[in-house]
Amino acid sequence: MGLVIVADVFTLIGYAYRVARGSTVLTFTLAIVSAGIGVFLTYLVGQVVGAVPGVVADQADAMSMVTFGWLLAALLATFIVQSVLPAIRQVAEWSMANGVARDIGVQVTDPLLAPHRIGHLEDTEVQDQQLRAKGKEGYQVGIGLRELPHLVSSRLTLIGSAILVGRMFSWPLAVGLAAVTFLMEWHRRRVVEGEIDSWWGLTEGQRRAWYLFNLGMKDAPKELRVFGLGPWLVQRYASVWLDAIQPVWRARRRGTVKAAAVALIHLGAHSAAILLVGRAALAGDLPLTQVATAVPAILAVGMSYNGYAAVQVKRGLTAYVAMRKLPQVIEERHPESAAISAPISAATRAPRPVGSMPREAVRFEGVGFRYPGAEVDVLKDLDLEIPAGEALALVGVNGAGKSTLVKLLAGVYKPTSGRITVDGVDLQDLDLSAWQRRVAAIVQDFLRFPLSATDNVVLGSAEHANDSQAVSVAATKAGIADVIEALPAGWDTVLDKTYDGGVDLSGGEWQRVALARALFAVDAGAGVLVLDEPAAALDVRAEAELVERYLDLTSGLTSLIISHRFSVVRDAHRICVLDGGQIVESGTHKELLALDGRYAAMFELQAERYLVEGGAVDA
Ligand SMILES: Nc1ncnc2c1ncn2[C@@H]1O[C@H](COP(=O)(O)OP(=O)(O)OP(=O)(O)O)[C@@H](O)[C@H]1O
Ligand SMILES: [Mg+2]
Repeated sequence: MGLVIVADVFTLIGYAYRVARGSTVLTFTLAIVSAGIGVFLTYLVGQVVGAVPGVVADQADAMSMVTFGWLLAALLATFIVQSVLPAIRQVAEWSMANGVARDIGVQVTDPLLAPHRIGHLEDTEVQDQQLRAKGKEGYQVGIGLRELPHLVSSRLTLIGSAILVGRMFSWPLAVGLAAVTFLMEWHRRRVVEGEIDSWWGLTEGQRRAWYLFNLGMKDAPKELRVFGLGPWLVQRYASVWLDAIQPVWRARRRGTVKAAAVALIHLGAHSAAILLVGRAALAGDLPLTQVATAVPAILAVGMSYNGYAAVQVKRGLTAYVAMRKLPQVIEERHPESAAISAPISAATRAPRPVGSMPREAVRFEGVGFRYPGAEVDVLKDLDLEIPAGEALALVGVNGAGKSTLVKLLAGVYKPTSGRITVDGVDLQDLDLSAWQRRVAAIVQDFLRFPLSATDNVVLGSAEHANDSQAVSVAATKAGIADVIEALPAGWDTVLDKTYDGGVDLSGGEWQRVALARALFAVDAGAGVLVLDEPAAALDVRAEAELVERYLDLTSGLTSLIISHRFSVVRDAHRICVLDGGQIVESGTHKELLALDGRYAAMFELQAERYLVEGGAVDA
C-alpha cells in the first residue's frame, strides 16, 4: 500500500477488530465493496456504451433488446447501491471510531493513572511518550483508523481501474499511470503534513501564539484587566502569530512550483493516455466497448490518490506503536510506580493487609528523599514517629519539605533512602492501595472539582457516595453545610461558574469543602487524617472554629496537621519542627517555648505582630 506498509495496516485493523468487532468488519467490508462496485460500474458503462450501436442498428450478431434492458437495469441497480453506500459506511465508521476512541482513552491514561505512586508523572520522557501515544490533534490512532477505510478504498479503486486500463487498452500504460498517481500522492502527503502541523499550531512559534491567545481568553482574565495588558496582548499575539506563520507561507510559496510541476506531470500523463485511446479508436484499432471502459478507468486511476488519508494512517500507526509501548516505558523507568497493587519491595510476596493500621505508630526511619530529576535532597536521614491516635503538628519554613513528607506518608512517592513503617511493617510491603484508602488528606494544592457540591464531598470515598447523612455530617463538621444549603440548587449546585447554574466558592469556602471531603473519608474508614495548610485561606472566625474543633475532629485518629499559623498547631499533642530535611525540635507547645529554640523564635515573631500595647505573648 504505497509507503504505508501492508503489514502495519493489518496491525491497525487488528486493533480495531479487537475493540469494536462488528463495526470494524462492516467498515472494512463496505470499503472493499464500494471500491469493487466503483470499478464494476466503470466496466458496466463500457459494456452498455459498446452495445448501443449494435442494438440500435438491430444487427444480427448484436445483443438482444432484452439482454440490453437487463444490462441497463444492472447499471442502474449498481448505481443505486453506489449512491446509498456512503451513508451506511459513515454510520459504520462512526461506530468503529467511537469504540476505538473509548479504548484509546483508557490505553493512554490508564498506565499513568493506575500506579499508586506519582514519580512517573513528573518524568518528561513518560509525558513525551504519552503525547506520542495520544497525538497532538486528538486521538491519533482513532484519526488514522477513521481514514484507513478511505485509503483502502482508494487503493483498491486504483488497482481495479488500472487492471481495466490494462485489459482494455495497454498494460504498460496502466502501470505508468499508477506510478504517476503514486507520485501525486507522495507529493500531497508532504504538503498535507505541513498543513496539518501549521493548522493545529504544532510548530514552536504557533504554540507560543496559542499560549498568548489562551492567556487572554481564559487563563488570566483578571490580571490582564488589572494590569491593563489587553492591547499589549493583542499586539503581541498578532506579531507572534505572523512570525510563526512566515515559514509556512514561505514553504507554501516554494511548494507551489513543485505542486504545479507534479500536477502537470499527472495531468499530462492522463491526458496523453486519453489521447492515445482516442487515436486508437479513430484508427479503428479499438472497439467501442474498450474505448468506453478505458477512458473512465484512466480517469479513475488519476483520482485514486488520498494524501490526507495516507498521512493520517501513518501517524496513527506511529501513535499506535507508542501507545503499546507506554506501559513498558513507565515500568522500565519507574519500577516502583509500575507495580499496580502488588507489594513493591517483593513482587513475589503477597501484600500485607492494612486492616485498621496503625495501631501502634507510623515511623519515618532515616528517610531521605530527592525528587526525580532534582539535584538536592529535600529530606535527609529523617526520623519521626507518629504514634497511633496522636495529633501531631509539623511546622517549618516554606520549602522545608512538609508537603513532601505528606506525599511520602501517603505512599505516592517512595523514599530515596531509609524506610517508612506502619506498626513495624515497611510501607513497601503493605497493600499500598489499602493504605492510601486509610489516609484521608487535604493536600496543600487540593482539587476544586467542577462537579456538584455533593460530589466534591463524596469523592473522599466514592464507594460511600449514597450516604447523604454522612455527607451532611462531614459538611457540618467542616463548617460549610450552611453555605452549601444556601446555594441555588443546594447540594446539587455545580461548583464551577462555567456550568449552567454553577457558582464559584471563595478560597476559604473551598478549603472547608476540602476539609469536608477528608472528614467524609474518615467517616468511611480512613484512620489517618492529614491536613496540609487547612487554614491558609480561612478568615479569623473560621480559623478560630477550626482550632476549637481540631482536637475533637481528630480524636481517635492518627493525625498530622501542617500550618504556618501557630494558633492552629499549638493544641496538637506534639509539635515537630522540620528544618534542613530533619526534625530538629519536638515537644508540646509549652515545652518548645521553654526550649527557646527555633519554634519559640518563630512563634514569638508571629505573636509579636499581634501584640497590643501592654499585652504579652500568651504562652
Ligand atoms: N514535584 C516536585 N519536583 C521537584 N521538586 C519539588 C517538587 N515539589 C516540591 N519540590 C521542592 O521540594 C522542596 C520542599 O517542598 P515542599 O512543598 O515539601 O515544602 P513545604 O515545606 O511544604 O513548603 P510550604 O510551606 O511552602 O508549603 C522545595 O524546595 C520544592 O521546590
Ligand atoms: Mg507545603
